[in-house]
Amino acid sequence: MANSIFFLLFTLFELFSSTIVTAEHPPFYRTISPTSLGLRREKLSHLHFYFHDLARGPRSTAVIVAKANITDKSPTLFGQVRMADDPLTIGPSMESKLIGKAQGMYAYASQNDFGLMMVMNFEFVEGKFNGSTISLLGRNDIFATVREMPIVGGSGHFRFARGYALVKPYFFNVPAQNATVEYDVYVFHY
Ligand SMILES: *[C@@H]1O[C@H](CO)[C@@H](O)[C@H](O)[C@H]1NC(C)=O
Ligand SMILES: *[C@@H]1O[C@H](CO)[C@@H](O)[C@H](O)[C@H]1NC(C)=O
Ligand SMILES: *[C@@H]1O[C@H](CO)[C@@H](O)[C@H](O)[C@H]1NC(C)=O
Repeated sequence: MANSIFFLLFTLFELFSSTIVTAEHPPFYRTISPTSLGLRREKLSHLHFYFHDLARGPRSTAVIVAKANITDKSPTLFGQVRMADDPLTIGPSMESKLIGKAQGMYAYASQNDFGLMMVMNFEFVEGKFNGSTISLLGRNDIFATVREMPIVGGSGHFRFARGYALVKPYFFNVPAQNATVEYDVYVFHY
């Protein structure tokens, strides 16, 4: 007797709760057409600029925010994490026109070489891309002559962006930890 009352209550509860689920929770997704967001033709852009990273001294643009207890003994600085706000200029000189900033982090992620993990947003402040950003996530082998890093997304003009950056050293003063790097970015966007 007790058993069948319990069964009845349980069945009623099930019915009741499944009704609530379907009534109160319509799907949270739907298919839409790209043109409903104003997306028509995908374009390919080539961006060319210079990136300046100064990691030592009072005018540093990249500061240490974390390290491991073995970092200071590691020949590859394994475990060090830096936050950067690096200027991007149109020419190789730091005094040339500022076109944006590279803001984000890089971390010494390899115990055997200088393979950095880069997680950065490039914000542009000039021309038609003023206010738009691209996001880069990749491995940066800082002593390689050409490094390739993926562009994984963006905002503004760079919504739905995907592409890659080819990066070459232009100037590198190791004791001063002062580097200028040439960026060629190829990116698909709308
Ligand atoms: C570093 O940290 C680890 C984990 O907490 C610890 O086992 C190790 O003894 C520490 N090493 C040094 C050199 O302090
Ligand atoms: C870029 O956009 C900002 C914010 O809208 C504006 O203040 C600034 O003047 C713009 N810069 C250029 C060079 O158009
Ligand atoms: C870094 O190097 C560049 C290029 O030589 C130079 O213009 C700049 O003044 C240097 N910065 C510092 C703080 O040494």
